[in-house]
Amino acid sequence: ASVHPFHGEHQAGIITPAQDRLHFAAFDVADITRSELAELLADWTFAAARMTAGLGAGSYGPTSGPYDAPPDDTGEALDLPPAGLTITFGFGPSLFDDRFGLGGRRPDALIDLPHFAGDALVESMTGGDLCVQACSDDPQVAVHAIRNLSRMAFGRASLRWSQLGFGRTSSTTRGQTTPRNLFGFKDGTANPRAEDSTTGAAVWAEKGDGPAWMAGGSYMVARRMRMTIETWDRASLREQETVFGRTKGEGAPLSGGTEFSEPDFALTGRGDSPLIAPDSHVALAHPSNNGGVVMLRRGYNFVDGNDELGRLNAGLFFICFQRDPRTQFVPVQLSLARDDRMNEYVRHVGSGIFAVPPGCREGESIGDGLFG
Ligand code: HEM
Repeated sequence: ASVHPFHGEHQAGIITPAQDRLHFAAFDVADITRSELAELLADWTFAAARMTAGLGAGSYGPTSGPYDAPPDDTGEALDLPPAGLTITFGFGPSLFDDRFGLGGRRPDALIDLPHFAGDALVESMTGGDLCVQACSDDPQVAVHAIRNLSRMAFGRASLRWSQLGFGRTSSTTRGQTTPRNLFGFKDGTANPRAEDSTTGAAVWAEKGDGPAWMAGGSYMVARRMRMTIETWDRASLREQETVFGRTKGEGAPLSGGTEFSEPDFALTGRGDSPLIAPDSHVALAHPSNNGGVVMLRRGYNFVDGNDELGRLNAGLFFICFQRDPRTQFVPVQLSLARDDRMNEYVRHVGSGIFAVPPGCREGESIGDGLFG
């Protein structure tokens, strides 16, 4: 079973090989002081480092400690391996309002996301002062991590919204095969990979980009996207492939070649129309249409039961990491929101943006740079 080190220059869970399962949670911080907030992050860091290594959240564990007190770990991960668990912490824009005197430390890159055409955001699935992304190859291990962190936060921070995800919709390293999203298409083909020499510059904030405490960190955008599966399932294969500009089987660009061939947006077919439709998702999202910009995608599929009309409440929980959302996520999403042929089949219902601080060494805590 794989173990990813918790400590390091960067937080784990970003360029770490994407695991199969997600439990994402956004928290509201209660009416506490700045030093109590720093203490919460220290407690979370301590527990996260332990759980990542396959240990209990507290030093007693689920089955020992004072008999008349609740155990300092809830126990459902006992006997389970860490299964590649990573726990990644982020700070939302609202953390930098007046409550904690952090206003002067808000990075310019941690913008309030603009309204995008077609957004149907639901307040109860939006925002958050803090976020925690737990990823693991075992769903129970990811849930155990979020559960214990929220238990420890009792009275200091409470869950605002959360999302379970399965079936990664990206690859973040070269060794991984490309998985599929719930539209049935390969997803992650053109994603930057940890091994690529250009990935670091697209993902990590550098000294001089903004506040020093964010150097080595990254910015996360999360979007809960509902898929109108029933409409999609009635669309022809021709329409489905036109939406993405790729084949459904191999995931090759409609301009020809194999999965990893570079799409040729100029190549035309009969009637001089481009083989890859200009309003296809890939044409609009490709770097050549966006001034060369890339972002690291790390999303998951979700199915949260069904709605009252008997339709699957399903979709894609889109997560991306980048050095600066103002030049990466925002312009790409503005163009997708306006023209993407895929929009007929998706609806953005949840949203969050978070500054993900750098990693820490043993004995330090996540966010020390912000509070110090
Ligand atoms: C590529 C699906 C949302 C950005 C792709 C591909 C698929 C796909 C199938 C082609 C394979 C690949 O290269 O990974 C979806 C689905 C979405 C979604 C099902 C939501 C339901 C988004 C959003 C963004 C985005 C919100 C960013 C604003 C990209 C980018 C590429 C891509 C940058 C790579 C394009 C390239 O370089 O060729 N997506 N996507 N996607 N998508 Fe999405």
